[in-house]
Amino acid sequence: MYPDYPRAVAAERLGRDAEEAPPAGARLDGAGFAMNDKPPNPVIAKLGRRLRLGVVGGGPQSVIGEVHRIAARMDGRYELAASILSSDPDRSRAAGAAIGIAAGRTYGSVDEMLEREGEREDGIEVLAVMTPNNLHYPACRAALERGLDVICDKPLTTSLADALDLVVRTRRAERVFCVTYNYSGYPLVRQARAMVSAGELGAIRLVQLEYIQGHLATAVERMQSDRRWRFDPQQSGPSLVACDIGVHAYQLGAFVTGLEPVKLCADLGALVPGREADDYASVLLHYAGGARGVLLMTQAAAGAEHGLRIRVHGEKGGLEWRQEQPNYLRFSPLDKPAQIFTRRGPGLHAAAERGTRSGIGHPEGYHEAFANLYSEAAEAIAARRSGQGAGRDTLPFPTVEDGARGMRFVEAVVASGRGGSAWIDCGLEL
Ligand SMILES: NC(=O)c1ccc[n+]([C@@H]2O[C@H](COP(=O)([O-])OP(=O)(O)OC[C@H]3O[C@@H](n4cnc5c(N)ncnc54)[C@H](O)[C@@H]3O)[C@@H](O)[C@H]2O)c1
Repeated sequence: MYPDYPRAVAAERLGRDAEEAPPAGARLDGAGFAMNDKPPNPVIAKLGRRLRLGVVGGGPQSVIGEVHRIAARMDGRYELAASILSSDPDRSRAAGAAIGIAAGRTYGSVDEMLEREGEREDGIEVLAVMTPNNLHYPACRAALERGLDVICDKPLTTSLADALDLVVRTRRAERVFCVTYNYSGYPLVRQARAMVSAGELGAIRLVQLEYIQGHLATAVERMQSDRRWRFDPQQSGPSLVACDIGVHAYQLGAFVTGLEPVKLCADLGALVPGREADDYASVLLHYAGGARGVLLMTQAAAGAEHGLRIRVHGEKGGLEWRQEQPNYLRFSPLDKPAQIFTRRGPGLHAAAERGTRSGIGHPEGYHEAFANLYSEAAEAIAARRSGQGAGRDTLPFPTVEDGARGMRFVEAVVASGRGGSAWIDCGLEL
C-alpha cells in the first residue's frame, strides 16, 4: 500500500518540532497538529525563490490552459516565465503577451523555447504540457532531454510505447514528472484513499466508477471548430472516450483503492448515431486480489453534466464520492448508520486536511484540487533541487508511471472493445 502522511513528515512540512505540543484547545488534525497550522512555502524555503515554469498549449480559447495557470500560481510556488500558447508562432506570441509573459519569452515552438531558455541564467526549470494529446510525448521528451522537470496533462501520450519511453527517460534523468489526473487532488478523495489504506473498509471487494458527461450528446464534430482534434485518432489517441475521460476514472479508482486491474473486458462504441469515434464504454474489471469492478464512461449522455463518481465497498463498509459535490464523502459502515465526512470537518485523516486552504463550510473545488498536484510537484522539485526534505515518497501526486498505467488501460479497452469484448490482461509491472 501507499504511505500516508506521518507526523514526522507533517512536522517537517510545517517547520515544527514533531514533539511540540499544539496550542491549548486547538482542534487537531490526524497528525496531531492544530488544524489551521499552515506549512510555509516549501519552494521559497528551500530555493529562496519560486520555480520558473514554461507552458506549452492552453491558448486563450482552450478548455484547460487557464486552469493550469491558476493551479500553478495558487500557492505561490511557480512563476509563469515563458509560453507557447498556439501552434501558430504569431498567435502564440500575441497570446503570451496578452497574459503578461515578458517580451522575448513567448515562443513559437518547443525547440525554440528550450533552446532560448537554456541560454538564460533565469531560464525555465519546469515545463507544463497541455496541448492536444499527440503533442505531449515530443514536448515531454524534449524537456527531459534538457534536464527539466515535467508536468503533463492526461492522457500521458497516445500510445503505451511512448508512455513507457517517458518512464525510462524520467528515471534516467532523475526528474520529477507529474501527470495532472486532477481528481486525485481533492481532499475528500485523499480521505477516501487514507481510509482504504488504513484498513477502515477491510479488503476491497467492489469498485464502481462512472464518468457520464453530456457535452458530446449531439454531433458537434460536424461543426467547424479547432477543438475537433479530439475526434481524430492521430491527435487524440486510439479511443476518444477512454483517452479523454476514461483514464481519469480508471486512475481515480487506482488512487483510492491502491489496486490495479489485471484483466478487463470492454463494450466500446458510439451512442450518437453515425459517430465514427467511440463516445461510450462499459468496462468490467478484475483487480489483483480478487476485487471486481465496473467502469462506465461516456461524453454523450444527453442532460448529464460532469458525472464523475466512485463507489468502493470492502468487507467492512463502503465509500461514495461525487465530483459535482466534492466537499462530501459518504461512508457506510457495515451494520452502522452512514456518516458524511466534510472538507475540514471532524474525523479526517491528515492527508485530507493538508489538501485544503479555506475554513470549514467554504466550498473548494476543481481549481484547488488541480493546484494540490502542482504544489506537491513543486515540493518534490524543490526537494530534488536543494537536496533537502520530503521528496516524492510522501507526496501522492500522480507520476509518469501512473500515466503509463493509464495508457495500458486505454489500449486494453480498445483491444477488448474491438475484439468482440474479449477479456484482456491489463496489468503493467513498472
Ligand atoms: N485534466 C483535465 O481535467 C483536463 C481537462 C481538459 C483537457 N485536458 C487535457 O488537456 C489537453 C488540452 O485539452 P483542451 O481541452 O484544453 O484542448 P483545446 O483544444 O481546448 O486547447 C488546446 C490548446 O493547445 C494549443 N495548441 C495546439 N497545438 C499546439 C502547439 N503545437 N503548441 C502549442 N500550443 C498548441 C491550441 O492553440 C489550444 O489553445 C489535452 O491533452 C486534454 O486531454 C485535461
